[in-house]
Amino acid sequence: MKTEILKLLRETDGYVSGQQISERFGVSRTAVWKVIRQLQEEGYQVEAVRNRGYHIVDSPDVMTKEELDSLMKTKWAGRNILYYDVTDSTNLRIRQAGDEGAPHGTLAVADRQTAGRGRRGRAWESPAGSSIYMSVLLRPEISPFKASMLTLVMACSVAEGIEKSLRDQKTGGAGGTLPPIQIKWPNDIVLNGKKLAGILTEMSAQVDYINHVTVGVGINVNITEFPEEISRTATSLHLECGCTIRRSPIIASIMERLEENYETFLQTEDLTGLMDRYSAMLVNRGRDVQVIGGKETYQAHALGITPIGELVVRRADGREEKINAGEVSVRGVYGYV
Ligand code: BTN
Repeated sequence: MKTEILKLLRETDGYVSGQQISERFGVSRTAVWKVIRQLQEEGYQVEAVRNRGYHIVDSPDVMTKEELDSLMKTKWAGRNILYYDVTDSTNLRIRQAGDEGAPHGTLAVADRQTAGRGRRGRAWESPAGSSIYMSVLLRPEISPFKASMLTLVMACSVAEGIEKSLRDQKTGGAGGTLPPIQIKWPNDIVLNGKKLAGILTEMSAQVDYINHVTVGVGINVNITEFPEEISRTATSLHLECGCTIRRSPIIASIMERLEENYETFLQTEDLTGLMDRYSAMLVNRGRDVQVIGGKETYQAHALGITPIGELVVRRADGREEKINAGEVSVRGVYGYV
């Protein structure tokens, strides 16, 4: 009921009376009052005015299942939420949920991870109260060879979702005081030349059949200190805009963008419908990059991406190559981008 009351308070411009709430949900006014008290204890600023009722003035950075449920506007993305104050890794929770038959679009969110995992076997530091750690379960009926493109679909959704939510939270974003959110190919989210978020995609598949895909996203939101080894290349929304950002609306906004982008992806089973937007956000485009492969490392000029998500680069001798994210990584010549 907390979720429904929160939704109603948000949807109502003025005050909503205790009587209206109790009639709408068929509960006593005492029960309504108890929920309002709980919300206030969680940090929501709910004004209670005699003879008028309740009015929500401000929602702090609350991350609970009820808060997330009350913000979700999608059909399937994030409609089944597994919320954890602490868990080992949301990717592991989603993999397990997938094995146990959870529906497409199931979302796991944690306030803290004890075994957060990054790409290439690295750890992903996941302290409490300051960042987003979330993973989504996808059940695409496509060839396993095409699954790596889902990472780029998510990158596009994360960048667009953050932009949209920052605009709604009136903290800058596109056209505001913050520089644009960008993507470092294939799937790092970048702000002001530093890493803001990372994506880890894992798949459970047979040779020709995908059981399920887990797409995990870590976003630095209100965190202000990073481990020494990444402190020069990482940033957070708080560090860049100097204000506290609410995490739950960002998650809801990313789920909206993911739902639409995923459906566009499925129409062609490639990135044709997303390429223009992805390319517009691509920080590498038009820059010199280091291509770091198993056999060789070379310098090249990044031109853009192909419909299947390869990066097109031009070598110094003029040869163009399409590079695959699984085989090489790309850095800026002078730094992270
Ligand atoms: C990267 O190395 O850039 C990818 C980082 C992905 C981190 C996220 S946090 C939520 C999810 N759970 C994990 O254990 N990892 C991903």
